[in-house]
This record gives sequence, C-alpha cells and structure tokens, in this order.
Amino acid sequence: MSRSAHPAGPRHADVYPEGHYTAPAADLNVLDEKVWARTVRRNSEGVVTVGGIEVSRLAEEFGTPAYFLDESDFRARCRAWAGAFGPDADVFYAGKAFLSRAVVRWLKEEGLNLDVCSGGELTTALDAGMPAERIAFHGNNKSAEEIERAVRVGVGRIVLDSFQEIVRVAHIAQSLGKRQRVQIRVTVGVEAHTHEFIATAHEDQKFGIALADGQAAEAVRRALRLDGIELIGIHSHIGSQIFDMAGFEVSARRVVQLLAEVRDEHGVELPEIDLGGGLGIAYTSEDDPREPHEIAKALHEIVSRECEAAGLATPRISVEPGRAIVGPTAFTLYEVGTIKPLEGLRTYVSVDGGMSDNIRTALYDAEYSVALVSRTSDAEPMLVRVVGKHCESGDIVVRDAFLPADLAPGDLIAVPATGAYCRSMASNYNHALRPPVVAVNDGQARVIVRRETEEDLLRLDVG
Ligand code: LLP
Repeated sequence: MSRSAHPAGPRHADVYPEGHYTAPAADLNVLDEKVWARTVRRNSEGVVTVGGIEVSRLAEEFGTPAYFLDESDFRARCRAWAGAFGPDADVFYAGKAFLSRAVVRWLKEEGLNLDVCSGGELTTALDAGMPAERIAFHGNNKSAEEIERAVRVGVGRIVLDSFQEIVRVAHIAQSLGKRQRVQIRVTVGVEAHTHEFIATAHEDQKFGIALADGQAAEAVRRALRLDGIELIGIHSHIGSQIFDMAGFEVSARRVVQLLAEVRDEHGVELPEIDLGGGLGIAYTSEDDPREPHEIAKALHEIVSRECEAAGLATPRISVEPGRAIVGPTAFTLYEVGTIKPLEGLRTYVSVDGGMSDNIRTALYDAEYSVALVSRTSDAEPMLVRVVGKHCESGDIVVRDAFLPADLAPGDLIAVPATGAYCRSMASNYNHALRPPVVAVNDGQARVIVRRETEEDLLRLDVG
C-alpha cells in the first residue's frame, strides 16, 4: 500500500489534514475500472450508466439509497471461477456475502455450488431450486433443527466445526437412517494479513478444530468411528479480503500433511480438501487482487506438489469465494443531502443511507472509493468524508476521498464494490429501511430484493 499521510501534488496539499488517503486522481470524472462493475461507464452527457442504463433514471425509478448489481458481471465472475478451477474441483459461492433467490438461480445456471451457514440461507437456496447435493452447510454452532433439516434434505456436505458437532451430526443422521457426508474444519495456525475480525485461521478464535496438539487428528479419529457420518475431507478457511497467496499455501500444505497422517494411521485417503474463501477485491485503486486463474493455478500446484511428496493421490479441491464473486459487481447509489465544510479539516457530505446499508467502514475500518455519477465536474478536488444519516459519529461510509468542490445537494454519488457484506449485513438501526437490490442486465433493471417499508418494520412490532 502506498498510502501517504499527505497526498502528493494537489493544489491544496498544504491544507489537507493528516489522513489515510492518496492524492486525488488526475481527473475525478474518470472511473477506475478496477473498482467498478464491468458494464459501468460514463456516457457522453457525463452520466454514469450500468448495463446501459443511466444512474439518474435508476434513481428515479428505484429511489436511493439502493444497490445496483451488474448481473452480467456476476455471471462472468462465476464462469471465471468455475473455468479456472476446472472439472476436477468445485467452486462453492459463499452465500453470506449476498444471497437472494435470483442469485441462487444464477449460481445454479452457471454451474456453481453454494455454501450456506444458517437455516435462513439454506431455506433461500432450496426455495430457489438449488439441488441439495450442491449445498455445503457451515457454522460453528448449528442448531439441532438446522442439522436435522440439512440432513433430511440431503445437503452435499456438512462442515463440522467442533467435537460436539461430530457426535451431534452423526447421531441425528443415524436417527434419520442416513449417512451424512462431512468435512472437518481445521484451524491451521496461519496469521492472515487482514482485519482481526475477519481472520479465522489463527488459533485464538472460535472457528474450527486446531491442527496443533493433534486435536484435528483426534477429531478425524472420532469421525471415522461413527456410522452416521462419512468423512470426505478436511476444510480450512483462513480469513477474508486477503491478497497474499502465502497464507493459502501454508494452509494447503498443513491440510495435506494431515491427510498424510490420516492415511498413515487409518489407511484411509480422504478424497477432498476445501481451502475456503477469502480472496480480496479492489475497493480502491490501491488494491491489486488476483485473478481466479492465478489463484487456481497456485492452489492446484501447491496441493499436487505436497501430495506427490507425501505419496498421496491429489484430492478433489474446493474453494468458497463470496466477496470475489459478488463484491465488485454492485455499487450503492446515494443522493447527497447536506454538505458541511470544516475549515482546515475536510468536508462532511451526508447521504441518505449510512452504516445501516454499509457497516464495513465502522466495523473494519474498510476503505471505499466514491464518485459523482449524475454529472461530470471540472471543479477542484475536495477532501470529503461521506457519512450517513444515523445518530452516531462513527456512521461513516467513506472515510477519506475526493469529490469535486462544486458538489451540491441533490447530486448522486456512488460507492463501488459494495456487492459483498453490505446488504447482507444491513440493519434497521434508527429504523432505517433496508435498501433494495436491483439487478441490471443489458438495458433491463429489475428489483431482486425490494426496499423495506415502514409496514415491514411495524409487522414485526407486535407489542
Ligand atoms: N468460507 C467460509 C467458511 C467463510 O467463513 C467465509 C467467510 C467464506 C467462505 C467467504 O469468504 P469471502 O470469499 O467472501 O471473503 N463480513 C466480513 C467478512 C466475513 C467473512 C466470513 N466468512 C466483511 O465484510 O469483510
């Protein structure tokens, strides 16, 4: 990261405060294709379009704030992942990033599988017609009801996360007269370079069973003894928004070592490994994500090399990208409400949404970019903080960015790369109404998740 405390070069360098931002782009009207969905362009009138539709028209028809999702980009990314990993591997889209019935149908059509981590996600998946055998069920504390439903409908695999769960799933499956295919999730002891709250493979956290101290080997021993489950492999997920492949390589190596130990001890070669999700995307021009084919190549190479060294047949690999598929495909469109210049500091630009539609900035210090999308401007860049309308000073959408100094109430601004973990983590804080998700494809726009209404809020309030 080449972020500097003071941006280089711009006219007002002497008045910019300390902050975590880079110099403004030479031309704020130019959209960096790295962070925008594939069909996003600026047309000859200066208005930004997605799927050929002007954002001003979208705002009129669907209102703001709203998420606009480029369906062709989503499908292209599914195909890129499936193509990169090939027929000897499985790609499971991680539904927690964003899930709706339309998304499930796209996944099904594009040949992807689906990772769910709650009864609610399972219901959405089944309701939209995802075949149960293409679903993996995750979670560190699945309820007995969730397990029973997953087994009953015949999910392809349940990923076991604790010693209790090994017994619980085996018991439930047996009582239903079934043998459930399972993987064991292990923590490989890797410190992934990402925010603490989204790193999951170091030992001091709630997920998985540690490889250290032979715990994972003990979990395998117990699982192999139980009739209700069929152990098909080992699972590892090291964290999220990761750019460096080194963590995945260490993880793959350690998982393969465990397979070799299992073979030595039990004479069984587990046929599958799952290396989880976590691949980073570009939120700002500073980020350089890997392409799916590079990731697939790196993972395939390390797994086959390690297996060859251990004298194991190469297992079937699966991965679980969520953010890398849906993240870049959507942007959030906001209308500018109030603008407050604070002398010597920055200008606060308030929009009609906020931490209720994007909690990631407040929660993880996430960085985003922003652009004026309803027109172009030749005005000088102005350092802004884009904030929401919630009763909280931490209600920040974009911490530090540049917008043209002639920004005015009523302008439309958009924050790119909000497809993952924004709608899915949206809340009703301050009784905000969660925004709709509108899928745009080839000149057509349709709501796939509608905007919440005040009636929706009152419906739950039964006191
Ligand atoms: N597989 C497992 C077992 C996971 O726990 C996750 C994410 C994924 C796959 C997908 O990871 P992805 O490819 O989307 O990075 N709310 C946070 C991210 C939490 C991720 C939780 N697990 C955020 O907004 O950054």
